[in-house]
Amino acid sequence: MELHLSDVLAGLSHALDLTEGHPPGHAERSCLLGMRIADRLSLPDEDRKALYYALLLKDAGCSVNAAPIAELYGNDDGLVKATRRQRDHRSKAASAIHTLRHAAPGAGVRTKLGRVRALVASGAAGAAHLTELRCERGAQIALDIGLGAGTAAAIRALDEHWDGGGYPYGLEGEQIPLLGRIMCLAQTLEIFWVSGGRDVACDMAAQRRGKWFDPALVDVILAARDDESMWAGLARPDVRALEPRSAAIAVDESRLDSVAAAFGQIVDAKTPYTARHSRGVAQLAALIALELGTPEAEASRLYRAGQLHDLGKLGISNTILDKPGKLTSDEWLLMRGHPEAGHAVLKRIPVLTDMARLALTHHERLDGSGYPHGLTASDLGRDDRILAVADVGEALSAERPYREALPQAKVLAIMSEDAGHKLDSEIFEAFEAVLPQWSALVAAEHQGELLSPIDLPKVDERTGPFDGAQQQKAA
Ligand SMILES: [Fe+2]
Ligand SMILES: [Fe+2]
Repeated sequence: MELHLSDVLAGLSHALDLTEGHPPGHAERSCLLGMRIADRLSLPDEDRKALYYALLLKDAGCSVNAAPIAELYGNDDGLVKATRRQRDHRSKAASAIHTLRHAAPGAGVRTKLGRVRALVASGAAGAAHLTELRCERGAQIALDIGLGAGTAAAIRALDEHWDGGGYPYGLEGEQIPLLGRIMCLAQTLEIFWVSGGRDVACDMAAQRRGKWFDPALVDVILAARDDESMWAGLARPDVRALEPRSAAIAVDESRLDSVAAAFGQIVDAKTPYTARHSRGVAQLAALIALELGTPEAEASRLYRAGQLHDLGKLGISNTILDKPGKLTSDEWLLMRGHPEAGHAVLKRIPVLTDMARLALTHHERLDGSGYPHGLTASDLGRDDRILAVADVGEALSAERPYREALPQAKVLAIMSEDAGHKLDSEIFEAFEAVLPQWSALVAAEHQGELLSPIDLPKVDERTGPFDGAQQQKAA
């Protein structure tokens, strides 16, 4: 069976579910509900195509507001988002109760009231801003992957409400694109279906008819209340079967690269301290591979693996990722779960199973001191070792919540202590050799130019001091 973009996005949508604190499969189930509404409205094929991808990618911008939400509530951003959605957050009373319950867990009443005051002070403008960040970023990611303006517009309007009380722009009625209105209803139905089943979902829709939701769309879903096959399908949604025929996009290497880059950006946006970690690891992994004489196709594969290696971090709270101090043992346990979380998402996508392996092993060490499985040298292949060195090299070179970015000499000094027993010494030497090339890529990026490490000249082709950016421009 030919691989479609929808197969890849359906699998990766589980990473977006992680960030939003949704149970796995939320986006897929929302897709089923949204497409069933589209069926009943007999939407034209072009709209169904735009809606289909919008439903799968609706939360692509979700990581950009994770850090401010964790900061505002002093609590796990995923938990805050998930619990907030289970009530009508437009009610001031419900919102205050939610804040008291979920802000600053373990703190005294005075601290909690301080959080409530801060949230009230940020008010509707604060909520609109956080939603705008998410929706605009999500829309841009859809465009970056090569999807159309209709998909981007639907993602942008995801949280607008029929009566004008939604975010970020307070659009009203038919000002809201129809596909956005369908998405808003579909995603909320899914949340209430998970918590209480069909009747709870339908009752919620009826209660919010004309407020949150387009009345005509609510009538469609209420008319489908007895559609046993639709509701039963939510237990195991078949996203491929929902794909409009004209929407099928075959996946080639270049499309896979753009999807991996988009998800690398989603991971990097989760915390201000990893603004370019995934891309940096990707660049280093590819440069090291080329330095070791690996064919370009293999180096490209490692570039993709670098973009996806920390996908599991999307499920980790920013109270842990951005913590300036030492992690507690419980927090560390959660942090150590990210390789397996990323692996679980990626292994569902047949064309990315090799990426799944590398997401799982990038924190393993040759002497068995790594995690999650304490693998040793005999278990770790060259790709595993390259990703491990690239990951450490990028992380040390970047600022962290608990320290400044380190200069290259210091990075090399620290890593050289681990070379030979934790990190592969030959790969560490290759890392050292490619640092000038990597610096050139980063410098070019600061000038607004994204260069591919694959196209850089190899070491033996260089004649003088390396100036990657200039040589690339000349090529
Ligand atoms: Fe990691
Ligand atoms: Fe990493």
